[in-house]
Amino acid sequence: MLRRLYHQQPESFAFSPANQAWAEGQISKYPEGRQASAIIPLLWRAQEQEGWLSRPAIEHVADMLGMDYIRALEVATFYFMFQLQPVGSVAHFQICGTTTCMICGAEDLIAVCKDKIAPKAFELSADGKFSWEEVECLGACANAPMAQIGKDYYEDLTAARFAEIIDELAAGKVPVPGPQNGRYAAEPKSGLTSLQEFDSGRAQYNASAQAAVDIGDTVKRIDGTEVPLLTPWRDKGAMHKPAPSAVKQNAEPVAIVTKVAAGTPADATGATKAEAQAKSTAKPDAEPAAKPAKAAAEAAPGKKPEVLSAARESGPDDLKMIKGVGPKLEQLLHSMGFYHFDQIAKWTEEEISWVDQNLEGFKGRVSRDNWVEQAKLLADGKETEFSARAKKGGVY
Ligand code: FES
Repeated sequence: MLRRLYHQQPESFAFSPANQAWAEGQISKYPEGRQASAIIPLLWRAQEQEGWLSRPAIEHVADMLGMDYIRALEVATFYFMFQLQPVGSVAHFQICGTTTCMICGAEDLIAVCKDKIAPKAFELSADGKFSWEEVECLGACANAPMAQIGKDYYEDLTAARFAEIIDELAAGKVPVPGPQNGRYAAEPKSGLTSLQEFDSGRAQYNASAQAAVDIGDTVKRIDGTEVPLLTPWRDKGAMHKPAPSAVKQNAEPVAIVTKVAAGTPADATGATKAEAQAKSTAKPDAEPAAKPAKAAAEAAPGKKPEVLSAARESGPDDLKMIKGVGPKLEQLLHSMGFYHFDQIAKWTEEEISWVDQNLEGFKGRVSRDNWVEQAKLLADGKETEFSARAKKGGVY
């Protein structure tokens, strides 16, 4: 399936304060230099908040993780769990159309979608509440045909039951997920043939369905209440406490973004608020990178390289031609006094160590991506494999 960014994009994206705190907590799980590992949970959180993933949201997450935009775009466009266009405000139905489900009636379910929601996948229903798509196997083949709605699986569906489920959701109810034909889980339709001793004393529903019932709302969006549960070390300093440098690195952006969004928080469900978005991420994002770099400069190990107060008359080199340097990092390098390839090409081991330590939010990038060797070639007027591709527009 061709997955592209939607043709209409919002101006900007900002996490709600609660989601921002949650996101910073996720980042703090990973060691220094490995913050990009948090890409999927952060993109998912952005989608939970807005309902879909816009380009500003993807780029905002990339900035938080010090990633090139193209890397974040690769992730967002690869996984179909990420919705790249607006979906129904109540629910988006993902109908499995792979072999087992197809044999067992997936096409009937899709016909219901076309009839009750919209003729084409990803079209919104007339009231904007629903949308649908056909997806590949969701791993519940023993309960085919099935559909994912919100966070839960609805299994052993018939066209009639599926139509009822849509009606129930439209009426504000949340149908119990799991098998819809009376099965408990994935046992034979005629009942258990083994492990029958476990049949008594079990919960009313299987574990997944029971958890959904206990939470009370399968289509409810994340609202930030998971913060203490998922990142307890951030407040309590208990087990799994991340390295102090990671905490320090992540602490400031929380404060800054919270300050920006404070007057315009998203609502209690974490749903979209245009006014929260309106305070663009551009300026707040620029600040945390530049400020700590100056503050930490004195105490860092290694030796500070020679810096310039401004670019030479010919203008700065395009430092983004160095693999690993994106627009944000280039801005940070300028704020530190580095504008030219030949400056970077001259860095000694001690100087690399100093710069690596002072790239707040991007620590370790100089050595990780071998900037000095790249800069030597670029300063001599040669190309690297990356710069050649970048000039052809092969990288973002
Ligand atoms: S084929 Fe539908 S869940 Fe596997």
